[in-house]
Amino acid sequence: MSKVTVVGAGNVGATAANVIAIREVADEVVMIDIKEGVSEGKAMDMMQTANLLDMNTRISGVTNDYKATEGSDVVVITSGIPRKPGMTREELIGVNAGIVKQVTESVLAHSPNAIIICVSNPMDTMTYLIHKISGLPKNRIIGMGGALDSSRFKYYLSKALNANPNEIEGFVIGGHGDTTMIPMKRFAAYRGVPAASLMSAETLDKVAADTMVGGATLTKLLGTSAWYAPGAATAEVVEAILHDQKCMIPCSALLDGEYGEKDLCIGVPCLLGKNGIEKIIELDLNDEEKALFAKSAEAVRKTNAALPL
Ligand code: NAI
Ligand code: 2OP
Repeated sequence: MSKVTVVGAGNVGATAANVIAIREVADEVVMIDIKEGVSEGKAMDMMQTANLLDMNTRISGVTNDYKATEGSDVVVITSGIPRKPGMTREELIGVNAGIVKQVTESVLAHSPNAIIICVSNPMDTMTYLIHKISGLPKNRIIGMGGALDSSRFKYYLSKALNANPNEIEGFVIGGHGDTTMIPMKRFAAYRGVPAASLMSAETLDKVAADTMVGGATLTKLLGTSAWYAPGAATAEVVEAILHDQKCMIPCSALLDGEYGEKDLCIGVPCLLGKNGIEKIIELDLNDEEKALFAKSAEAVRKTNAALPL
């Protein structure tokens, strides 16, 4: 029996739970939120699709009752508040850091062996915070951002090529931020054919630029941040772990010398399996990519400095 807890039954958390359930990634999904009735209601709504979708995953929802999360194999943390007008970045970090800290302690009290996936923003910094407060082995704390950014990169590549997104290869490393992420143009491909040989350098640059502001573009359209792709990307990471898929997915991982960085969580290609991050894959970056990565790391480190540690 595999069990996943999703903390925060808002847009991203509920979508992740729904995709996990529909794809039968886990036997059981528990959603937990502080808002009375929301998790319960969404879980009931999802369970009423079971007979329609031939879905066998059991979904439940609770308000603040961490006992129900007991024995989870994977815990996804999506709880947090979005930035509001007039709020500084530091203020947002302060509020979300408090939430993430409380949630981490509560889930680990009931699921001491769980692998934790952090989604809450600013994601690289929140992932780092979870490391600092939990002291868990680094393979068991994973930041989800690269899975989403890579999917957006593949989407924009597929549009530029007028191709099926399923036939596109591409990934994004670095921080999960508009200016910190690094779409890896050199490795983008269409059925193994380098994308750079199929479009002009200007078009490929535009694809990368659109990817970097992919989240902001949606926030502008929706009035809040996106949830379908973030939820599905979270489910992809959960599936790679629970099904021991040994998939290479860019995730925010605690670095200990890899890519020339230490004591920092940032997006790097990770091999994911039943033990969480089983390996960090070190790419041979060229000088331009190395410079971008160093700049991205510096920006994430600066955000980390605002943590109330
Ligand atoms: P939302 O506002 O729809 O949902 C957040 C939920 O967290 C709410 O239901 C709220 O009641 C709950 N919550 C707040 N404090 C809690 C606590 N202490 N315990 C349990 N639940 C609590 O927000 P949305 O759109 O789902 O986004 C969630 C987070 O994910 C945000 O920080 C957002 O910026 C981030 N995000 C990260 C992405 C990534 O790729 N890493 C992509 C999209 C969003
Ligand atoms: C996104 O990339 C805001 O992290 C959120 O959609």
